[in-house]
Amino acid sequence: MTYRVIQWATGMVGQESILGVLAHPDLELVGCWVHSADKAGKDVGEICGIDPIGVVATNDVDALLALDADCVIYTPVMASTTTVIKLLESGKNVVTPVGWIYPGESPKVAAIEDAARRGNATLHGTGINPGGITERLPLLLSSWCRNITHVRAEEFSDIRNYPTASVVRDVMMFGTPPEAAQTSPMPTILGLGFCESIDMIAAELGWTLDADKRTTHEMATATQDLDTPVGVIEAGTVAAQRFTWEGLVDGQPVITVRVNWLMGEEHLEPAWTFGAGAARPGPQDHEGEGRGQRFEVELTAEPPVSVVVHGLHPPVVGQNPEIGLTGPAMHCVNAVPYVCAAEPGIKTYLDLPLIAGRAAV
Ligand SMILES: NC(=O)c1ccc[n+]([C@@H]2O[C@H](COP(=O)([O-])OP(=O)(O)OC[C@H]3O[C@@H](n4cnc5c(N)ncnc54)[C@H](OP(=O)(O)O)[C@@H]3O)[C@@H](O)[C@H]2O)c1
Repeated sequence: MTYRVIQWATGMVGQESILGVLAHPDLELVGCWVHSADKAGKDVGEICGIDPIGVVATNDVDALLALDADCVIYTPVMASTTTVIKLLESGKNVVTPVGWIYPGESPKVAAIEDAARRGNATLHGTGINPGGITERLPLLLSSWCRNITHVRAEEFSDIRNYPTASVVRDVMMFGTPPEAAQTSPMPTILGLGFCESIDMIAAELGWTLDADKRTTHEMATATQDLDTPVGVIEAGTVAAQRFTWEGLVDGQPVITVRVNWLMGEEHLEPAWTFGAGAARPGPQDHEGEGRGQRFEVELTAEPPVSVVVHGLHPPVVGQNPEIGLTGPAMHCVNAVPYVCAAEPGIKTYLDLPLIAGRAAV
């Protein structure tokens, strides 16, 4: 069976998703929504830098709602519950990296569940971090363990791979004085997704968490002016950040999710680095900056199990940032057949079967 897919937005994730749909033997791209006026009317292949594929991008939402399609891969910069409800009501399944990994209960969630039932459609939230490393992988590893007392999922990324100044400077607040970055919305914005991951792990492993999770925000500053893809980060301003969210039982952490974002490993105060886990043996090894980028998952249990995931970051810092978005895009693409086959409603990893990729055609 071939599933007919609409791609919603053609940013970095969206373009990687389109390439993934074209490479997937069970999927056919039949439509594409774009936000930018200058992309509307263009062949989707042209937007992605490949040959024309005969699918024209549009910003006409109603035309896409009326289109016969099985699934929408929904990757805009910000999620719109209103749009997702319209898509579900129109009978289209939705896979997305922008939320709903384990959304709990709220009036908005109830409205989405209603729309999904009316449209006989399914919504699934996925991704890498959150949406993979912080809940799917720990749950997979947990099946080899007993007496689990702690779960840690951690990202180590060179933030020079993120070339978008409006995000890195204005939202993440790199390059601002530490006192200003203290007011960053990032712990809240990121925390929405990561706290869903923590809740999913706790629910499945059997922890009843304290009502409040603990959030910690640490910073390092530049010891000299740093030349970066988002401009000069001035000495004394924020050049590295570490955010930690902890699920607690009686005040003690049982689940720890952490991101370490560094503008390189040199010229930081305190002198943060990617640490001892940086070595990357094997055929994909490479020399130079950024080689310590990775994700780690560790279970304190019998036996203690840990994995280090390489390959999800651009191998050369500052080049081909889109490589970092292939993973989250493909997790969406590969989920499509499973989500189309699922019962209506919001379905998480706890509801769906194992999601796998496909061999090259
Ligand atoms: N869970 C994960 O692991 C994970 C990983 C990576 C990214 N993400 C999320 O995925 C989303 C997309 O990331 P990205 O890297 O592709 O971002 P991006 O390159 O900035 O692209 C986002 C796209 O959103 C569209 N857009 C712009 N303004 C919009 C608006 N006002 N309303 C609706 N759409 C608008 C644009 O589409 P057009 O260009 O087509 O006009 C734009 O290209 C983000 O929310 C990001 O946080 C999640």
